[in-house]
Amino acid sequence: MRPADLFHATTFRLALSYLGIFTISAIALLGLVSWSTSMFIEWQVQETVEADASGLSEKYRERGVDGLAELVTDRTREDADRRSVYLLIAPDGHRLAGNLYNWPAQTPDADGWLIFRAEYNGGATFNTDVMARTYSLADNYHLLVGRSLYDAHRIKSAINRALGWGLALTVLLGIVGGYFTSRQMVQRVEAMSRTARRIIDGDMKSRMVLSHGHDEFDQLAQAFNEMMDEIEGLVDNVRTVTDNVAHDLRTPLNRLRGRIDLALMGKADIDTFRRVLEATLAEADNLLATFNALLTISHAESGARLHQFEALDPARLAADVAELYEPLAEEKGIVLAASADPGLAIQGDRHLLFQALANLVDNAVKYTPAGGTVTVTVAPHPSEPAVEIAVADSGVGIPAEARGRVLDRFVRLDATRSTPGNGLGLSLVQAVARLHQAGLFLDDNHPGLRVRMVFPRPPAEAAAAA
Ligand SMILES: Nc1ncnc2c1ncn2[C@@H]1O[C@H](COP(=O)(O)OP(=O)(O)OP(=O)(O)O)[C@@H](O)[C@H]1O
Ligand SMILES: [Mg+2]
Repeated sequence: MRPADLFHATTFRLALSYLGIFTISAIALLGLVSWSTSMFIEWQVQETVEADASGLSEKYRERGVDGLAELVTDRTREDADRRSVYLLIAPDGHRLAGNLYNWPAQTPDADGWLIFRAEYNGGATFNTDVMARTYSLADNYHLLVGRSLYDAHRIKSAINRALGWGLALTVLLGIVGGYFTSRQMVQRVEAMSRTARRIIDGDMKSRMVLSHGHDEFDQLAQAFNEMMDEIEGLVDNVRTVTDNVAHDLRTPLNRLRGRIDLALMGKADIDTFRRVLEATLAEADNLLATFNALLTISHAESGARLHQFEALDPARLAADVAELYEPLAEEKGIVLAASADPGLAIQGDRHLLFQALANLVDNAVKYTPAGGTVTVTVAPHPSEPAVEIAVADSGVGIPAEARGRVLDRFVRLDATRSTPGNGLGLSLVQAVARLHQAGLFLDDNHPGLRVRMVFPRPPAEAAAAA
């Protein structure tokens, strides 16, 4: 990952903009702190100066200018407080007492306060900013009492420096923190896109790695993995079907071709040609039937939203199918019986349901030897609000281990291979059951097979039954 990529990362930009907002508010806060500190310091200096001046004014009241001059001189002795500044000047402007060399040029504000740069003698000569108040005495004498701002400046700059470093550290931590968090995010997104790319390049088995945090990235990865499982299943399914279709259609087509070839080679008469053409026609019909079955299955698999569901009477459906197969059963010497509880209803696609039930009865009649029985029953489910349609026979049955397999396309069991068929009948039944959210169960009928389709009842009807 290049630093430029990182800079474009959403998280890094987000971190930067938060940092910006935070810096601005920190600067505002620090400015306020700094300003109020300097206000406080100034106020303290003024207090000190005023306290100092009140002592001097008492002396002035008691002993006049001479006493004042004496006190000022006393206070500016070498061992005195080096931060206090005084100047007492006579009407002619010459210095009577004090440690300030010159009267400031600035004019004081309305209260007599002023801040100026000055040289004064406080044991040594100092050159600092001074905050002072001036007093006009009687007879045009003037007094200035002040205090050096040297300490105040030092405190203020120490505070400002501390605040500045604090701010710099904050910004630095923000950038570094932003860098590392976004790097982590970017790495996870990159890992995801690498996985996606592997899948695009053909590795359908590739899946996203989950961290243990179960955060939103994991949720996304989980959803993605589930989606890929689903897609992989579908792709596998399509591949198997395509393979099966190709394989299972090749045999009849080859047969067809061989038969025509043979007829063309010999010196055949018109009767032979007729026989060959009849066989060819039968084969072509069989191929068409297979295609139709495949199309119906994929139609049923195309999802509920493409189908028109209507309320159906399952008893009616069973009776119709039984009626259709009655002649065939009779011809084979099989007893076909249909029994149905009246007043039940299911929601479904009439055409597909008829086809599915017909396939079940077709199997039952086909795989039951003469003298057997086939029953079609429609009844409410014993425990659930559901309708059960069952087709049972007394034929050869399906071994338990093969009951899952026979639902797949083109699967035919060896025991029944001599009978005609494509192995698509039960595949359609399964697709139709899925479409109707019905359960499909294959059980042993001792002897024979019992197939049940369990349909959920329409909500209104289920409520009425409850
Ligand atoms: N009632 C049954 N009794 C015994 N075996 C059955 C029964 N129904 C299905 N089978 C077995 O399951 C296989 C698959 O059935 P399916 O209906 O899918 O195909 P088919 O009957 O062989 O051909 P098609 O229905 O496409 O004409 C059958 O070949 C048969 O071996
Ligand atoms: Mg069948």
